[in-house]
Amino acid sequence: MSSAIRADGLVKRYETWTRRGFFRKEKQIVEALKGVSFEVGWGEVFGLLGPNGAGKTTTVKIISTLLLPDSGDAWVAGYSVLGNPVEVRDRIGVVLSVERGFFWKLTGRENLRYFGMLRGMRGHELERRIDEVLGTVGLKQLRGADKLYEEYSLGMKARLALARAMLHNPPILILDEPTLGLDPPSAREVRELLVRLAHREGKAVLVTTHNMFEAEMICDRVAIISEGRIAAIGTVAELKRLVAGEVPVVVKFSGILGDRLSKVENALRSRLGISKLQVSETDGGFTARILAEAGSEERVVARTIDLLTGMGFSILRVEVAEPSLEDVFIHVTRRGGGDAGQGS
Ligand SMILES: Nc1ncnc2c1ncn2[C@@H]1O[C@H](COP(=O)(O)OP(=O)(O)O)[C@@H](O)[C@H]1O
Ligand SMILES: [Mg+2]
Repeated sequence: MSSAIRADGLVKRYETWTRRGFFRKEKQIVEALKGVSFEVGWGEVFGLLGPNGAGKTTTVKIISTLLLPDSGDAWVAGYSVLGNPVEVRDRIGVVLSVERGFFWKLTGRENLRYFGMLRGMRGHELERRIDEVLGTVGLKQLRGADKLYEEYSLGMKARLALARAMLHNPPILILDEPTLGLDPPSAREVRELLVRLAHREGKAVLVTTHNMFEAEMICDRVAIISEGRIAAIGTVAELKRLVAGEVPVVVKFSGILGDRLSKVENALRSRLGISKLQVSETDGGFTARILAEAGSEERVVARTIDLLTGMGFSILRVEVAEPSLEDVFIHVTRRGGGDAGQGS
């Protein structure tokens, strides 16, 4: 058995109905996954990185047997999610970003006892295991084990979800945005825990995130997913090599942008003659991230300042940066002279 998880050509379409006028409803098909393939090895943290709507949750739900693909298949510890879903479920621990199913009037420990019994665990062995996982996720240390779930902070809820996923000691963990909305100390501990589980215990950890820094921090390998397709796969170092020859120019600016974000982005794109750039809202202003060809960065900086001040913006800061995963993302999702919205 070589890989822990293998996804092969996953396709998923959702049907939605949108109202058009008073009486008419129109069926729309959203193709959430357009053939997603990747492999996760034992002992590695593998990150599925992409923005909202890219298809991350759909992918992990299929691999967790919670959703059927329209075509393709996935193998978990060698078992097909289509052919052997029961065997798959025995070998995975799953944490979805929207947690449901915990009992508000029970303590963390009592909740785990309930879910352990559902798994067929009993007696002394179950109590020992509950104690162990409560310690592993730090709930004991936070004195949360015997607190009612309804009194839990978001960080404690996330830890309990992790504890539940680990209760039956599965060799594979699948987590959908496990640090979303957590306070920084909880987020850091969850990240450290995932790395420990993979590197020390040899588990396979599949984690989704839209946070580039998180992916860079904890993932041994990353797959960048965009509009239902895998745009690139590799170690962070390998991915960064994709942008060798390009230098990120980062310009922070302020002013009134309103709904002009994409207009500013397109203006910069056409007037600089560079397709690989992205304008986003950041605290206290906006940030344009432009992939300039190595050697041209000074000219790009000057022209960008010209263009933005000409449009009435104030420049706050200019920086020629080291390539980050964010640049890789811009690079692989905005190949060639294409327009941002075209999503090939
Ligand atoms: N139950 C659903 N019905 C219709 N469309 C959906 C449903 N779930 C997800 N989608 C759509 O599928 C695409 C991928 O969604 P999702 O897998 O949740 O992405 P992510 O987790 O990366 O944000 C999005 O366009 C989303 O709107
Ligand atoms: Mg999601």
